[in-house]
Amino acid sequence: MCGIVGFIGRGPAAAPILDALRRLEYRGYDSAGIATLERGLLTRRRAVGKLKNLESRLTCEPLDGRIGIGHPRWATHGRPNENNAHPHAVDGVAVVHNGIIENHRELRKELKLAGARFVTDTDSEVIAHLVNQQLKKGCEPIDAVRAALPRLEGAFALAFLFEGHENLIVGARKGSPLAVGYGQGEMYLGSDAIALAPLTDMISYLEDGDVAVVTRQGIDFLNSKGEHLRRPPAKTAGSSVLVQKGKHEHFMVKEIYDQPKVVGETLAQYIDIVSGTIKVPKAAKLNFRDINRVSITACGTAFYAGLIARYWFERYAGLPVDIDIASEFRYRNVAFDSSNLAIFVSQSGETADTLASLEFAKARGQRVLSVVNVLGSTMARASQIMLPTLAGPEIGVASTKAFTCQLATLACLAIAAGRDRGVLSAEDEALLVRALADVPRYMTSALELEPKIGELARNIAASRNALFMGRGTNYPLALEGALKLKEITYIHAEGYAAGELKHGPIALIDKEFPVVVIAPGDSSFEKTMSNMHEVIAREGRTILITDHKGASLAAGSWSTLALQDMPTIVAPLVFALPLQLLAYHTALVLGTDVDQPRNLAKSVTVE
Ligand code: F6R
Repeated sequence: MCGIVGFIGRGPAAAPILDALRRLEYRGYDSAGIATLERGLLTRRRAVGKLKNLESRLTCEPLDGRIGIGHPRWATHGRPNENNAHPHAVDGVAVVHNGIIENHRELRKELKLAGARFVTDTDSEVIAHLVNQQLKKGCEPIDAVRAALPRLEGAFALAFLFEGHENLIVGARKGSPLAVGYGQGEMYLGSDAIALAPLTDMISYLEDGDVAVVTRQGIDFLNSKGEHLRRPPAKTAGSSVLVQKGKHEHFMVKEIYDQPKVVGETLAQYIDIVSGTIKVPKAAKLNFRDINRVSITACGTAFYAGLIARYWFERYAGLPVDIDIASEFRYRNVAFDSSNLAIFVSQSGETADTLASLEFAKARGQRVLSVVNVLGSTMARASQIMLPTLAGPEIGVASTKAFTCQLATLACLAIAAGRDRGVLSAEDEALLVRALADVPRYMTSALELEPKIGELARNIAASRNALFMGRGTNYPLALEGALKLKEITYIHAEGYAAGELKHGPIALIDKEFPVVVIAPGDSSFEKTMSNMHEVIAREGRTILITDHKGASLAAGSWSTLALQDMPTIVAPLVFALPLQLLAYHTALVLGTDVDQPRNLAKSVTVE
């Protein structure tokens, strides 16, 4: 989490840094800060809360330095307050940091013994002290950074500014992303290409262990031994305009409504409707005949997309699937097998745990495939096979369109696997492809239920708890529905496999308790209805989300929302939409911060 920006140019640095921080606010929004050199002296402005607080501060107390670094923070160590906000400065050095310094306690102790005076509760402050210690020994700034880096354990992307050095920013990376951008007489540093998009589309990415020496004249990349490296710039496709909400009040609802279009575009790259076949990019050289097992690893919503895909790989391709939350994967004793395909799913392509798991699998000889939304991301670059989702920039912190685009891509992959392995006939494949091609239409019709969902949301908003349940692919969907609700409304919600309810959670049910039952009229419908009636018998308030067929068979639910009838394979993609809208409308009733809910950040770049 947190973002990094650096600017060195001819004009004032604060405005372009602020603009880049706006683009990086998805990485953290509990405080922000900028440091520049004013007549050679380090000057900082920091503010707690959203970026607009820093903007107001800068209006009253402007900065006019032509070199600077900036940072939007998501707190890991130390409460969000102005004092803990980056940049951290010690004597003549200032630093911004993304990542976690795992040995900060030991370093702090050692530095204190050597006379350092700490003024923040952060792990990051040790970095400024370590570099300052080297400067005091007489090192030049670049050597001071290079001498300090080996002392740091954990993950970091860093940018340093030095008093008296008006033409120098030093960047460094280990585990967290960092890019440099090339301008005319100007140079930039940023956590990603999007941050730098209005300034440049020529970007080089730092690799782990790189140090970047940035001046107005250009950039020099060094390795840990101080040897020069080549990191040639490449043109990026980062959008140069800030994504707008259009007619919508929030990014989240805009992104919910984007889904028929972006899922359609994502599907269009993987299906051929005329021939009724799946087309996995030839460059991927992927043939599932050589694969005997699939492992899927991801976090949060992307993990739930993976859970749904497990049902598809098993059902349509007869492939055994292991699935892990990324923060667990690396710490299990996974039995790696050369016939395994290791799949990683991520919107950002930067989630620290998923990225570390990917590297872990790759180092053990696994074939690595990632399903990623941000094309220039570290995961996209690190994967042998990368299947992009075309959701476009997702700004709302709660993932919506990225989820359904992940599902669309994974469904295509599972069908391709079934075809390659001879489990699906050409007719089966064509039927499934045609079903997928209709997803945008089913989604558009599901969105028409929004007024009714708005009414149901009032009921949920009146509760402190909610339960979501379903069977088969509707079980991970229940998990996702509960996650969406808790993220943006702060209502405690749980997702359960419907058959599991009576093994414990049913004890929670009383007439105050809303239970969302996800049950299209598929093969598990009757069993889920039995579970719903177990809830009704205990006076639970059930909201049944089903299709027309299910609605005609179901009776007794407190409320029923009926979507169009649709083929089983597409139901998870379409049923996600009413769940997203339910969370969104509940948040509207409660007046919470929909796009930037408390304590969260869009991209989780720390473990
Ligand atoms: C939930 C949400 C998170 C992300 C998770 C993984 O709405 O957005 O749970 O899904 O942090 O992020 P990515 O997909 O970027 O790896």
